[in-house]
Amino acid sequence: MDEFNQKVVLVTGASEGIGRALCQQLAAKGARLVLVARNRQRLEELAAELKGEHLVLSADLSDALQCQQVILDALNHYQRLDILINNAGITMWSRFDELQDLAILERLMTVNFMAPANLTHAALPALKQCRGQIVVVSSLAGITGVPTRSGYCASKHAVMGFFDALRIELMDHGVAVTILCPDFVVSQIHKRAIGHDGKALGASPMQEDKIMTSAECAALMLPAIAARKRLLIMSRRGRLGRWLKLIKPQWIDKLAKKAIVSGH
Ligand SMILES: NC(=O)c1ccc[n+]([C@@H]2O[C@H](COP(=O)([O-])OP(=O)(O)OC[C@H]3O[C@@H](n4cnc5c(N)ncnc54)[C@H](OP(=O)(O)O)[C@@H]3O)[C@@H](O)[C@H]2O)c1
Repeated sequence: MDEFNQKVVLVTGASEGIGRALCQQLAAKGARLVLVARNRQRLEELAAELKGEHLVLSADLSDALQCQQVILDALNHYQRLDILINNAGITMWSRFDELQDLAILERLMTVNFMAPANLTHAALPALKQCRGQIVVVSSLAGITGVPTRSGYCASKHAVMGFFDALRIELMDHGVAVTILCPDFVVSQIHKRAIGHDGKALGASPMQEDKIMTSAECAALMLPAIAARKRLLIMSRRGRLGRWLKLIKPQWIDKLAKKAIVSGH
């Protein structure tokens, strides 16, 4: 995959999980990276281990001004942007009727939907200039409902609709939009999931030995990004479920419930 050699790629959520693994694999292919997340120390540790020189930008993407500044700083440094990967995200783990404060829904929408929208808006002129690409990491929860994830599902469905619309608007500008939908992946997201009281769970409720690693997930994502695909659904049950939902949606509801109860 020479497609990434010398390309300037901005990855949000680069400090942990899928974003970190994407950076490791992109750097090995010669990409020039912009590593974005809040935890500067984790980003600097990553930059030090990667092949090549990369730009570290610490920012809280729930702040619209910081999203704009990230793009400005990236463009000042490299004078171009080929690929924007909107990967940073947070999740929840609580039934809706047990949520103590609905501000949790706003937090999810801000990080998972508004941040990609703000970053993309600021990056569009540069992306149009080099007929670049926008990548967004959604989820199977962007395609179907998942219990204990109502607010997360809302944010990921928003992302899917938004970027599907944007793809059409960008058709004549040569900017590709790629949506990636992973199934469960081992990362920090499950232990950080927001519980009913607004606090992080602290421990992952997943059976982590039964789900994909972040490195495996990134390795599946890269060919889809290189091919500028419009959509990648990253598990067999996800691909099958998408069609089955049209015929027997109640089966998919049961499958989603079973996946959450079993943790894999
Ligand atoms: N893991 C899964 O099972 C799974 C499944 C489907 C989809 N996804 C999606 O995959 C993406 C990556 O998630 P992951 O599983 O790799 O999670 P993760 O290990 O928790 O990593 C999330 C990343 O997002 C960053 N982030 C969170 N809030 C931020 C903020 N306000 N400002 C800037 N950066 C922020 C975190 O960095 P800092 O804390 O340093 O800011 C971290 O680097 C997300 O969009 C998630 O919804 C994950």
